[in-house]
Amino acid sequence: MAPSPRAKLGALAALFHLWNIYVASGQFCGCSSLVVPVHVDVLIPKDPTDPFGGLNSNASSLRRLNETYDVFGVFCQPNTPVSPEKADVIQLLVHGFTYTSQYWSPLTEEFRNYSYTEFACNRGLSSLAIDLVGVGLSSRPANASDVQFATNAAVVSQLARHLKIVSTIAGVQPFKKVIAIGHSAGSATLTFGAIAEGAHSPFDGFILTGNLNIQPGTLPGLPGVMSARDDTPLRWNGLDPNYITTNNRSLFYPANPNSFSPRMMIFDAFTKDVGPLSSQLQGSVTSLPVHYPGPVAKVVGSEDQGFCAASNCVDVVALNAAEHLFWPDARSFDVVVAQGSGHDLNLDFFAKGPFNTFVGFVEQFAAL
Ligand SMILES: *[C@@H]1O[C@H](CO)[C@@H](O)[C@H](O)[C@H]1NC(C)=O
Ligand SMILES: *[C@@H]1O[C@H](CO)[C@@H](O)[C@H](O)[C@H]1NC(C)=O
Ligand SMILES: *[C@@H]1O[C@H](CO)[C@@H](O)[C@H](O)[C@H]1NC(C)=O
Ligand SMILES: *[C@@H]1O[C@H](CO)[C@@H](O)[C@H](O)[C@H]1NC(C)=O
Ligand SMILES: *[C@@H]1O[C@H](CO)[C@@H](O)[C@H](O)[C@H]1NC(C)=O
Repeated sequence: MAPSPRAKLGALAALFHLWNIYVASGQFCGCSSLVVPVHVDVLIPKDPTDPFGGLNSNASSLRRLNETYDVFGVFCQPNTPVSPEKADVIQLLVHGFTYTSQYWSPLTEEFRNYSYTEFACNRGLSSLAIDLVGVGLSSRPANASDVQFATNAAVVSQLARHLKIVSTIAGVQPFKKVIAIGHSAGSATLTFGAIAEGAHSPFDGFILTGNLNIQPGTLPGLPGVMSARDDTPLRWNGLDPNYITTNNRSLFYPANPNSFSPRMMIFDAFTKDVGPLSSQLQGSVTSLPVHYPGPVAKVVGSEDQGFCAASNCVDVVALNAAEHLFWPDARSFDVVVAQGSGHDLNLDFFAKGPFNTFVGFVEQFAAL
């Protein structure tokens, strides 16, 4: 399945700047929130339980989704001049299941030093962290079956094209390169788009964190998953029951409780969001070869209780070889196993290691 060539950019010009709510604004970094209308015209599976999310489907099992969604994002940019090489690059940050753009910058003073956006900004790199469609402050379609990997893959690709064509904020030029960093289901969303678009992908590199193409046989199902409206009626009563969440976040952290702040897990539960049921059922969307020609890196935590179960992250050379098979055309391909980190690489005591790794890859990809 390829995204429709009919997808248009017209409505995108009408983006607007909301207000400065963001904590990371400071000496080196200016941040502001914005909403971008993104038009997608895409074929998605009629059956949202299709494990391949439509990638293996014929036309009769797909339906057309022609919609414009408001995509919320937080844009951060260094205040001080940076090298032209860095000024031309923006990182598009894509959160995982039950997270929001805040995964990249927790909105609380205590965990301010866990902000990847601030970390990167202090090193001269701009970013746009978005809420996926269905999540947070972005549009939430009434019918959760409209929100599938195919939908959000089209949204992030359209947004990347947009960032290269129009000015995101008054005074900010379009960017020459858009490098995507995903986490978990956000990485799967980006992988889906790379499978669908191949050489036509608008991205100039992928850094896929907390996600592997190969999956250990023992990948545990997430505990505590239920309809969001039953989990927290105060927030989500009235939502389509196929918007789900989880009340148990322990698998997102290392098994060793000394690896993270217990208050981070409480804050995480307090700020959690929803995702579509399809995201838990379309587990095969990353199991197909990806004919993407740009540079690709994967970063996974050695203590990821899902992807690194069954000791499959111990032999990094073997893991790299196994993952590389899925990305035969990649210009470069690396797998980094971040020692000590859990699935949520950004949220435990080891986060600075992965942050340095992400920035290193962005600088490497920006120089290509
Ligand atoms: C299309 O896919 C559906 C569902 O997988 C299948 O039942 C049908 O036979 C397929 N049709 C063709 C023409 O391949
Ligand atoms: C698709 O959506 C666009 C924008 O809302 C609209 O102008 C267009 O007519 C739609 N196309 C079809 C075939 O419905
Ligand atoms: C959601 O949309 C699908 C596809 O159009 C449809 O089959 C389903 O009945 C809708 N569900 C609800 C609750 O409206
Ligand atoms: C959360 O899930 C973990 C792992 O599946 C389990 O060991 C633990 O007992 C669960 N915690 C609660 C409070 O249900
Ligand atoms: C933030 O600071 C706390 C307290 O000094 C420290 O334990 C934690 O590892 C730091 N986090 C990051 C991501 O640097």
